[in-house]
Amino acid sequence: MVKQEDLQTIASSLQSFLEDLHSKYESRGDGTVANYIPELAKVNPDLFSICIATVNGDVYEVGDYNQLFTIQSISKVFVHGLALEDHGRDYLLTRVGVEPTGDAFNAIILDEKSKRPYNPMVNAGAIATTSLIKGSDATERLNRMLDMFEKYTSHNVFVDISVFTSERITGHRNRAMAHLMLNFGMIDQNIEQALDLYFQQCSVMVNCHDLAVMAATLANKGINPMTGKQAVDSRYVKDILSVMYTCGMYNFAGEWAYKVGIPAKSGISGGIIAIVPDVMGIGVFSPPLDSRGNSVRGVKVCEELSQQFGLHLFECWRK
Ligand code: DON
Repeated sequence: MVKQEDLQTIASSLQSFLEDLHSKYESRGDGTVANYIPELAKVNPDLFSICIATVNGDVYEVGDYNQLFTIQSISKVFVHGLALEDHGRDYLLTRVGVEPTGDAFNAIILDEKSKRPYNPMVNAGAIATTSLIKGSDATERLNRMLDMFEKYTSHNVFVDISVFTSERITGHRNRAMAHLMLNFGMIDQNIEQALDLYFQQCSVMVNCHDLAVMAATLANKGINPMTGKQAVDSRYVKDILSVMYTCGMYNFAGEWAYKVGIPAKSGISGGIIAIVPDVMGIGVFSPPLDSRGNSVRGVKVCEELSQQFGLHLFECWRK
């Protein structure tokens, strides 16, 4: 496992390693761009960027790192943090579990006994988590969520209206999950409002640089290394990272934990964030996905980074 004192050694080779990785994978065309949300199908599959932000605020980046895209499921990590701040760990656990599912992210299932969705990283759990965000009305809830994202990115963020509308029109599975949870009393709020907020959080625009800084904030006990400001209460960072570690890569989470060995989260627009606690945050963006909904290049890049720099949390021998 890499520690903060190893940063200097790593840093000297990081930029050139990222450039090599980028040229190694840029011409590989495996995977398919998500198309079940029509707006997402329009993306250029060749876009590709890798960015690393350290807890000291240094940034290493290559490729299309300024290209904006919708954050999609990566948002679930940060909204989980906000829900923890709003309600605390114990209450949240009564509404959403922390068990990996082994099922697809959009499976319409709840835990049979507790009737809770399995975890906040799959769609059902994320919708339930989002429905808990406090606010007197829809506008206040949306503003609280955008403010939360801005603490991580260090700049204003906005919702892409065409992706939001596209999700809202085609989100029948998500609507089915919300109704199922309403049936079991797992959502109290007006479900259309909860779904709208969920579609809005997925449609927040970020770039790969933002992903790395957001990941570095979680690596830095919830303090944004660029601003020095607390983005999320440090007492919840371990909850956020534990759920990412076991559930963040969906039905690939076990293999990811085995091979890459750090908490991570992917989104169907092609982003991945990965966190090396106390050291750095990694962001990768490349839209073509594998059958589980994870970015093909993103997974490869993280596997190689982990191997090269010994990032696996249970790696006992440093290079
Ligand atoms: O709920 C959905 O379908 C999307 N807005 C988010 C899904 C997503 O990114 C899942 N990740 N692989």
